[in-house]
Amino acid sequence: MDQGLISQINLQRLPRHIAIIMDGNGRWAEEKGKDRLYGHYHGVESVRNIVEGAAELGIQFLTLYAFSTENWDRPPLEVEGLMHLLVETIRKEVPTLNKNNIRLHVIGDLELLPAQARQEMQEALDLTAANNGLQLIMALSYSSRWELVQAAKSIAAAVQTGKLSTSEITQETFREHLATRAFPDPELMIRTSGEYRISNFLLYQLAYAELYFTPTRWPDFRKNNLYEAIIDFQNRERRFGKTGQQIQQEAPIV
Ligand code: IPE
Ligand code: IPE
Ligand code: MG
Repeated sequence: MDQGLISQINLQRLPRHIAIIMDGNGRWAEEKGKDRLYGHYHGVESVRNIVEGAAELGIQFLTLYAFSTENWDRPPLEVEGLMHLLVETIRKEVPTLNKNNIRLHVIGDLELLPAQARQEMQEALDLTAANNGLQLIMALSYSSRWELVQAAKSIAAAVQTGKLSTSEITQETFREHLATRAFPDPELMIRTSGEYRISNFLLYQLAYAELYFTPTRWPDFRKNNLYEAIIDFQNRERRFGKTGQQIQQEAPIV
């Protein structure tokens, strides 16, 4: 099965950057009569499997939406358990990340994290900083509106101090003030668990991403599901506002 699906992937036309909204842990657990944290624990297995799968394929950037700014409003016990699980997992995975040449990045409002969690996170970032294989970006305490407001503030400050003039502001300037400034835009965005929405994730960066929705709950999502999403992506025509005919003349499908 694995071999079958993976052989359908055109390795010359892989998305450079895949972003995933890892949704459905809570429902997965509730359906089994367990509490929501049980689902989050199992979700970590999927994270390991998908990071490994992406690295094996040669994907360059993988962004995982792990915790949104809005998720802080969940019941305190769930928030506490989830935060602990996330930071603990990141810390424990550092040796595996290093072994596989994976560099960890974090985007989000880290000031909202408890001081110790922030420090452990920083250590993991430092310990993997020299790796140049898969760039794994965890969106943690992240929301796109938070990021866009940060960008606006940072541009305003640059104008105020005379480093930048308003007439010089371009799309490139704006990009450079985003939390994702070091990464290309995702070409493929996957959301698990059957919800058809973006939930405040990379609103600016997803402008031309292909969106892929699957009913599979995140704890059940494995490499094969990732391959299916990539195959689906590769069968689409990305037009960027042009006509299909123009696109086919520019770059015939290999
Ligand atoms: C995704 O699963 C993980 C986080 C949002 C932190 P959920 O916890 O949202 O699970 P559902 O959507 O309630 O099933
Ligand atoms: C989005 O899932 C955030 C993450 C997966 C981290 P949510 O479960 O929080 O999104 P909504 O509330 O269903 O839109
Ligand atoms: Mg959810």
